[in-house]
Amino acid sequence: MLEHLQALPTDPVLGLAAEARADSNPEKVDLTLGVYMDEDGLCPVFAAVREAQQALVAEEQTKVYMPPAGDEAYNTGMRRLLLGGDSRVLAEGRVSTVQTPGGCGALRLGSEVVRAASPGARVWVSDPTWPVHIPLLGSVGLEFATYRYYDPASHDVDFDAMTADLKKARPGDVVLLHGCCHNPCGADLSLAQWAEIARMADLQGFTPMVDIAYQGLGDGLENDAAGLRLLVERLPEVIIAASSSKNMGLYRERTGAVLFVCEDASHAANSTGHALAAARRCYSMPPAHGALIGGRILADTRLESAWRAELEGMCTRINGLRVSLRSALESATGRDYAFIEREKGMFSFLGLSAEQAQRLRREHSVYMLDSSRINVAGVNAGNVEYLAASVAAVLGD
Ligand code: LMR
Repeated sequence: MLEHLQALPTDPVLGLAAEARADSNPEKVDLTLGVYMDEDGLCPVFAAVREAQQALVAEEQTKVYMPPAGDEAYNTGMRRLLLGGDSRVLAEGRVSTVQTPGGCGALRLGSEVVRAASPGARVWVSDPTWPVHIPLLGSVGLEFATYRYYDPASHDVDFDAMTADLKKARPGDVVLLHGCCHNPCGADLSLAQWAEIARMADLQGFTPMVDIAYQGLGDGLENDAAGLRLLVERLPEVIIAASSSKNMGLYRERTGAVLFVCEDASHAANSTGHALAAARRCYSMPPAHGALIGGRILADTRLESAWRAELEGMCTRINGLRVSLRSALESATGRDYAFIEREKGMFSFLGLSAEQAQRLRREHSVYMLDSSRINVAGVNAGNVEYLAASVAAVLGD
């Protein structure tokens, strides 16, 4: 039977990351996968995570299954982190939460619930979006429509085009939005633009689904959630897919949550019921380790402030890298790269063609996606000049 399978192309992100790993050139620069790297090129474990993990290992009494909805301390902490401690919808009990295997699990459960509630729903995705969004949400049988988002000429959000396209979203449709640090382009909506999206959702009756995987890595934990909080404040219904991979560095522990903000508590409970049924069909119970660590951090004021400080340090460093990358690229190429400083989070497009991105890999061991998406957090003081010179070389001939 299995001989009938055709070989599939490699994953657009993971395939290139593997190629980069296999390159033995000591000058190689790997800007493929969205993970935070320190100055030594290592993806570090947060000190707060290490401390919570040590306590967890010392105190753990059992490896019995987690409850289907996951760790309550983690879910409570995530609700507060995403919606704010003083959130009205939290006080009104209109939010339900399921802990998931990473942000991908949250997107999957969220779309399973959408499919159950609105089988004909179209999911509106930004052009461009994270390449995995479409296969992931599509795997539950949802259909897609695209809204224009990023203008490569201005390196900014084309908001007029976005809203022109979203005028066609119908009641029962879902509009997938990146909460902050847009993946892949780094261009985010302003608060006024979030307000306009909220107005349109209210008028047209579509439901926003916010994928927020980089909270804290753009403008800080609170600012990065401001757009999402505005939607939640103004609309009866928002679905949120959140991840602790990046902002707690829990990548391999697969730790995330899906939140259903609903018109009333009974809708929220029913949404969770459908999410749990979908989880049971896919993987039964959620993984424990990452969520138990995250839950301990978020339930402990001292550990939480240590974690917040460390995350703030990462955010400041990424924004500093954006400044040095802009300056190195401008000196090496004589072109304008101000947009790199304006954009947020781990990603930006360098504005290169696929052929130029491939030449960078082949001739310079500089790895980025064919779209020229780079992981800014893979840049460091030791590789920024080489990166800029390599880009100048492929632009020059
Ligand atoms: C990325 O876009 O590089 C990250 O979100 C990692 C992934 O799974 O693709």
